[in-house]
Amino acid sequence: MEKHIFAMQISHLLGEEFSRDWVYSQIETPKQEKLGDLAFPCFKLAASFRKSPHKIAEELAPQLKHDLFTSVAATKGYLNIFLNQNFIAEHTLKQILSGDYGKHEFGKNQTIVIDLSAPNIAKPFSMGHLRSTIIGNSLAKIGESCGYQTVKINYIGDYGTQFGKLLAAYQKWGNEKTVRESPIAELNKLYVKFHEEAKSTPSLNDEGRKWFKRLEQNDPKALELWKWFKDASLYEFNKVYDLLGVQFDLLRGEAYYNDKMETVVTLLKEKELLQESDGAQVVRLDDQALPPCLIKKSDDTTTYATRDLTAAIDRYESFSFTESLYVVGHEQSLHFNQITHVLKKLHFPWASHMKHIAFGMMLQDGKKMSTRRGKTVLLEKVLHEAIQLAKENIEEKNPALPNKDKVAQQVGVGAVIFHDLKHDRQNDVEFSLQDMLTFEGHTAPYLQYSYCRAKSLLLKGGFDLKEASPSLIVDGEWPLIKQLRAFPEVVKSAWQDYDPSKIARYLLDLAKSFNQYYTTTKILQGEQMKNRLTLVYSFSYVIEEGLSLLGIQSPEAM
Ligand code: ARG
Repeated sequence: MEKHIFAMQISHLLGEEFSRDWVYSQIETPKQEKLGDLAFPCFKLAASFRKSPHKIAEELAPQLKHDLFTSVAATKGYLNIFLNQNFIAEHTLKQILSGDYGKHEFGKNQTIVIDLSAPNIAKPFSMGHLRSTIIGNSLAKIGESCGYQTVKINYIGDYGTQFGKLLAAYQKWGNEKTVRESPIAELNKLYVKFHEEAKSTPSLNDEGRKWFKRLEQNDPKALELWKWFKDASLYEFNKVYDLLGVQFDLLRGEAYYNDKMETVVTLLKEKELLQESDGAQVVRLDDQALPPCLIKKSDDTTTYATRDLTAAIDRYESFSFTESLYVVGHEQSLHFNQITHVLKKLHFPWASHMKHIAFGMMLQDGKKMSTRRGKTVLLEKVLHEAIQLAKENIEEKNPALPNKDKVAQQVGVGAVIFHDLKHDRQNDVEFSLQDMLTFEGHTAPYLQYSYCRAKSLLLKGGFDLKEASPSLIVDGEWPLIKQLRAFPEVVKSAWQDYDPSKIARYLLDLAKSFNQYYTTTKILQGEQMKNRLTLVYSFSYVIEEGLSLLGIQSPEAM
């Protein structure tokens, strides 16, 4: 709020040429606290006003007035303001106590569709799918905090030529009993074997294609196997979703579109966008400097692109989305670019509201992890290891804790989620079980622990929300209040950049401020205990809320 008011006043004084948004974007936080709370650099104004930046700052300073500011100073070309700490503290804490702190309304009456997770059946749940699940789930929560309605869709990969390959492999080498015992592992083995054998026997690939064709034509044997593989895979995936605490609004995989693709193909034909190329049907995208989008292969089967085009239209027809997000790794950028351009050629105005929320790869020894080469770290194992480690920690530090298993799950899973979300989503992440399972430093357990510390203070001090006292107080609290104050803006900017890491990093700073306060202040003593506990409560509220936006739970004690 204060930043907006500061920007508005300056913009007003400078004249129309300098919009409030522009001024706002220039405002900085001084490196040294003694210089002020907010600073506006006047350097870029020098040319327009033909005055030195310092002179401009000096002229502006006396004209800025508001209850929120205690003083305004011109320092070396900067306009620095000092905030009225009492006023702001009270205002912030009151807002937090009101119960919907960090929430926005700008997304009201708008729907965001989020395509997330989307693992492929008969294959292990990969690290890439983990990233998609975690990032997508967090974005949905952040979007909801901004007032949007969200629809989370799990578009599982249950279709495509690779199923033909799997069916062919199962017919050749499969064994019903072993597949029933551990479906994903066995099916993945078959899939890997298929690729190895196909290197020396390329005719296998034709067999794979034939099986896919049978599947597309609803051949009963192909359908029966497909359904079995799919149900068995979903059963395994659900274990991961349960551990992560992720739910979907819609489970709608690629196969769902099997009998719906003709409409799109017809539409493309009508608009004369479909062209033949080596027996296949493509939409040329030369004008976009993109390779053609393959719609039908030469054997008349459909492609990943055909299904995504059909699904995109279906999503718009079902939800009239404001935005349709695809939380999928960078390596599919070309695919989403092609899809979007084909839809634009079909003149769907909403095509420009489709966004590929790309993220980096999970690397192992600097290389991409691949299911095809069979080199996948099994995610469920990672999660269980994290939980186990959390359990050992509890046994060692707090053996009398009730609900140990539940807390261990909250902490272990939280560690894995945070390890992912603290990185800028665009970057590759080197997979390191050790890093994921470190509970100190920049981790979720550290944040959860800070929350527990606050909760225990509140309990010891007999804090009662009804008697909260939101007022400032003494020195030492201001840094923490300033951090708390930033939360709503952080949520908004995490949404605008589709980047949960903004919240993750904010929470680390917030917890640091709190821990500093905790070690330097005697909270449970003296007359102002109630005021201090109100601040502690406010911290606990914001950190719990922030963690929940990342999909991480906050145990009351650990
Ligand atoms: N199943 C795909 C894969 O693992 C990801 C699907 C992403 N979503 C989409 N609408 N294409 O590569």
